[in-house]
Amino acid sequence: MSLSRSITIVAIAGLAASTFPARGQDVRSRTSFNEGWKFARFGPMPDGATRPEPGAPRKAIRVEASSEEAGRGNTADLALDGDPGTRWCAAGEGTQEWLEIDLGRAGPASSIEIDWEFRDLEYAYAIDEREGGRRADTLARGTSRRDARRIELSRPAHRIRIRISAPPAGKWASIREVRLYDSDRKAIDNESVPAGEAPWVTTFPDDDWRSLSVPHDWGIEGPFRDDLPGDTGKLPWKAIGWYRKHFRIPASDEGRRVFLDFDGAMANSRVWLNDREIGGWPYGYQPFRLELTKHLKYGGENVVAVRLDTVHWGSRWYPGGGLYRNVWLEKTSPVHVGHWGVFATTPGLTDEKGTVNLAVAVDNQGDGPAAISVRSEVHELASDGTPSRVAARSGAVEQSIPAGRSGHVTLSASVGNPRRWDLDHPDRYLARVVVEQAGKIVDVYDQPFGFRTIEFTPRDGVQLNGRRVFLKGTCNHHDLGPLGAALNVSALERQLTILKEMGDNALRTSHNPPAPELLDLADRMGFLVMVEAFDCWKEGKTANDYSRIFDAWHDRDLRAMVRRERNHPSVAFWSIGNEIAEQDGPGVARPLREIVRAEDPTRPVTAGCNQAKAGTNEFRTAVDVFGLNYNLWAYGRIVGFPPNADKPIYTSESSSCVSSRGEYFFPVERGKDSQANFQVSSYDVDAPPWAQPPDEVFEALDRNPAFFGEFVWTGFDYIGEPTPYNSDATNLLNFSDPTKKAEMKAQLEALGRLKVPSASSYFGILDLCGFRKDRFYIYQARWRPELPMAHVLPHWNWPERVGQATPVHVYTSGDEAELFQDGTSLGRKKRGRFEYRLRWDDVTYRPGGLEVVAYREGKEWARDRVSTTGEPAKLRISPERPGVRADGRDLAFFTVAVADGEGRTVPRSHNLVEFAVDGPGEIVAVGNGDATSHEPFQARRRSAYNGLCQVIVKGRPGSAGRITVRATSPGLAGADASVEAR
Ligand code: GAL
Repeated sequence: MSLSRSITIVAIAGLAASTFPARGQDVRSRTSFNEGWKFARFGPMPDGATRPEPGAPRKAIRVEASSEEAGRGNTADLALDGDPGTRWCAAGEGTQEWLEIDLGRAGPASSIEIDWEFRDLEYAYAIDEREGGRRADTLARGTSRRDARRIELSRPAHRIRIRISAPPAGKWASIREVRLYDSDRKAIDNESVPAGEAPWVTTFPDDDWRSLSVPHDWGIEGPFRDDLPGDTGKLPWKAIGWYRKHFRIPASDEGRRVFLDFDGAMANSRVWLNDREIGGWPYGYQPFRLELTKHLKYGGENVVAVRLDTVHWGSRWYPGGGLYRNVWLEKTSPVHVGHWGVFATTPGLTDEKGTVNLAVAVDNQGDGPAAISVRSEVHELASDGTPSRVAARSGAVEQSIPAGRSGHVTLSASVGNPRRWDLDHPDRYLARVVVEQAGKIVDVYDQPFGFRTIEFTPRDGVQLNGRRVFLKGTCNHHDLGPLGAALNVSALERQLTILKEMGDNALRTSHNPPAPELLDLADRMGFLVMVEAFDCWKEGKTANDYSRIFDAWHDRDLRAMVRRERNHPSVAFWSIGNEIAEQDGPGVARPLREIVRAEDPTRPVTAGCNQAKAGTNEFRTAVDVFGLNYNLWAYGRIVGFPPNADKPIYTSESSSCVSSRGEYFFPVERGKDSQANFQVSSYDVDAPPWAQPPDEVFEALDRNPAFFGEFVWTGFDYIGEPTPYNSDATNLLNFSDPTKKAEMKAQLEALGRLKVPSASSYFGILDLCGFRKDRFYIYQARWRPELPMAHVLPHWNWPERVGQATPVHVYTSGDEAELFQDGTSLGRKKRGRFEYRLRWDDVTYRPGGLEVVAYREGKEWARDRVSTTGEPAKLRISPERPGVRADGRDLAFFTVAVADGEGRTVPRSHNLVEFAVDGPGEIVAVGNGDATSHEPFQARRRSAYNGLCQVIVKGRPGSAGRITVRATSPGLAGADASVEAR
């Protein structure tokens, strides 16, 4: 039961100084719990070995395979789990895949049964005995369909390998179940054996575990492995990870309530405190709170232990693994504002008056009834988030809350002439809520919010503060390129700064709840955000994905997401799912919408639909705002469908154009001509079958002005999903390097496939390092029409194309442009209706230079040029910012370019660069944006990719001074650059 009371008090004008205590007093404290963890990894290890997890019941029989479809959850152990519903699958269609079984103490086996996946097809196989890592003997041979069910081995063996010499044509090695029998023809049990003390036990020895601080992503440490699926980045993120932390709680805290807040833990977390399991949360993207109070030792040492399991987590992209977001320790009085317990709404906003209603939940965790009084003060917030002047106060509301219950009060305060939150001036306020009990302040709770109106209209777009705003959005995954999934605020801020420069004003947190810091940044920097909950519902997309826990957890997950994020002015709408399978009707969608509405009645609910029919069937009635992914052909049809007359519509996901920074292939055609060397041409004409180059999306949007926005797939390249090179290829021999081509040809002959190295996406407008691809400029031209700009491509270093036609494309915010080759005009072109780039397709290549002069309404508007460079001669290095905070978290990003004698970046250079750091800093990661590179991210060297690489440096906590990064490369003049750590 909840008790509720409300009161409204009108504006108190001209207030300045606060009469409230500042936050941070002993009534409530929130401190970082990131430092001082011990970490160890078990289960699948980075090198492919398996390390038994202490304390976990262990199977007597061990299984390994030549390769496994781990990304889809089809791992080797499933062939011996006693469940024919699960299976082991090899990663590709190759021959000579094997499954090796070590019976250990359980053997030997004299006969076996194999349940093949495709029972009526034929697998040719041999069963070998193994000794000391080699074949000792062949114990049986056969072909699946013709064998007797039970295969007799020529002699009993402890360690056998089932070698599949030929899977059925077009299929892959795959076994549902293997059963083993002893010489008495009795089934051999795969029983569990005892395995020692578990790491949740307080006394567990963790001295030799690694010391680290979180956020931490164990997957990004690598190494890249050929046998791991490209879809999740060829990185060893699947593991069982344990984190332990010893900490002290002062005796004086006795009587307070103590909580641990995890902003996300990947995945399937279970948490223990002092030998007791206190909770956990399966969905790795979801923040959650656990209470420690009862089991703490006050004045003594405590041990918290966290077990994470990504082995049982399936993903279509790289999720990372670990405590990859912040962890906080929060202490309150027994009577305190509840978790995410303030909901600020701003109804009836006018230019003269902004009223904020604060629905406050107060928990009474004390022993007796609490007579409380709650009031609040509204402060203006400076852009850096510090509260300043008091703009209004609410009256006080009194209430009595029984022990163990929550009370609900509504406070109201009105600000005169409120400063609105908008994209260009994201002004915010802070509601400071104070709870008093018996005349004593027991809690002070700060809740930022903003005054803004936002309305989604069917035909007049999104109206932000009464002004139509077209949502120029990008979808992004949560990883931060070379930094992996480990949250870093400065890296996120850098991403948003780059997007803003492109004209991006909206973000979609595809396809999961974001780190809280992302929304704080969006509030501060002025973005509208579509916060998304799920990538699937009941029907999954990969083994072990969210579908497995949907029934048990969707309610808690969705509520938690909305409750935590509903005060952000940047949050514009909620997405309940992306391309979920259930688009035939409103059955699953509607109850989800109701959950969201119950937590936040002020914002619309949407979903990203890839089935155009969802726009005309009953599914559409379950969302307030209809989001269509791709399907340009259906824009007009969905807008024109009469029952949609009142439905706001937009493209929740668009384009999915693919390209690699600095690569250009000829002829300039979509499809195979755009793909070579496991890269994709940067002429921006290629996209997978369901997708389109940007120009086609722009045209569809221009023809359908009712669409209120687009979210491009994606702003940044991300780890995993390397379309079009998702799986090993059998038909690709398009390699420009003759040695590479010969190597690939040999591989194709030997394996029947090419091992594809690709580990990260090609979808990004920016590459994995955040370096601009050409595509950045076609969006900038459209999204910032007032910015004079022109961009010409490709680069002009084509020694092998002398005399050949080499198309030149120009992206510009001008309406006309003239192209010059070595000073001679190649003609002036005007952009036609539905034309978004200018092309000169017959430029004959010769070394020299190109210059484009763009015009707007007949007047010169912008210029750009490219010229043929000389050979690599030196390095250039430059930091993106002059300084870095000396806090061990803030990052300095340095770009390193391989340059010719005149300092021009050499476009096709791949020189290996070494880094050395001087001063109070250290290298966190390196990268180059090459989706095929298997060079480690955590290293002191990196090859340039098409002229550029990146080194990311952090300052040492508390050590101010100059950090200098020196870059060297054999045969080139080195370079250095510095940032000031403060
Ligand atoms: C979409 C999907 C995204 C991504 C994209 C690639 O259909 O929603 O997650 O897979 O395709 O084009």
